Amino acid sequence: MVNYLLTTTAQFAGDFRGDCMADICAGPVILPSILGSRIFKRIHLYEYTPQCREVLNAWKNKNEGLFDLSSFMKTVADLEGCRSGLYFCSARTRTAITRILPLDLTNTPTMSKDDLPFDVIYSAWTLEAVAKTNAEYKAMVSLLGSWVRPGGGLLMMGSYGQTFYTLGEKKFHSLKLSESVVLAALDEAGFRFKRKSYFDVDPDNMDPACLSDSNGLFFISAVKNHE
Ligand SMILES: C[S@@+](CC[C@H](N)C(=O)[O-])C[C@H]1O[C@@H](n2cnc3c(N)ncnc32)[C@H](O)[C@@H]1O
Repeated sequence: MVNYLLTTTAQFAGDFRGDCMADICAGPVILPSILGSRIFKRIHLYEYTPQCREVLNAWKNKNEGLFDLSSFMKTVADLEGCRSGLYFCSARTRTAITRILPLDLTNTPTMSKDDLPFDVIYSAWTLEAVAKTNAEYKAMVSLLGSWVRPGGGLLMMGSYGQTFYTLGEKKFHSLKLSESVVLAALDEAGFRFKRKSYFDVDPDNMDPACLSDSNGLFFISAVKNHE
């Protein structure tokens, strides 16, 4: 599955060009930045929890004891055929991550005008963790869409059919999504569908520390219409 995530994210990110990408909300996860830094000079990471922002900052500042990504880096370096491998990928990603900022999607967030618009926004498993209804989900997709330049992209990743997920002992809400809701949300936000991919989840083969009732993972990319 890790290989699927890596290759699909790389393939989808490769559909877009530009200067600046945002990840909303990144959690403690650097993987999209590793792949994004191949294309985008600047990456802004937004994250709701101070704990996750601390992990992101620790990695950016080379306090790697908190966050060992060497095996991911090695896989990405291999995928990219990086001649200088691991060191090159890590250095490139650290340079690209220019901002790590708080963001609360429930609180009608606004972005600094200096940061907008983004060429691409990537968002994985976040909107469905925050939205309680399809209408709220669609409103959040529209909000993210308003931060993207015309011709820029939204790259969405998540799980279909998922009503909860666990991290260790903790159980979290997830809005049960279907492909038709995600596609309608993108359309209503003024985006045209570009590419999709789907990965079946085997319920008998889940990491016990990270369970859910999802029936599959999706990637969907879309391009913002010019007015
Ligand atoms: C399942 S995690 C996904 C994290 C990461 N994108 C990934 O791919 O693993 C859900 C994310 O939603 C964030 N979140 C929870 N409540 C939020 C809120 N009110 N506003 C913005 N993000 C929120 C969490 O902090 C967390 O980063």
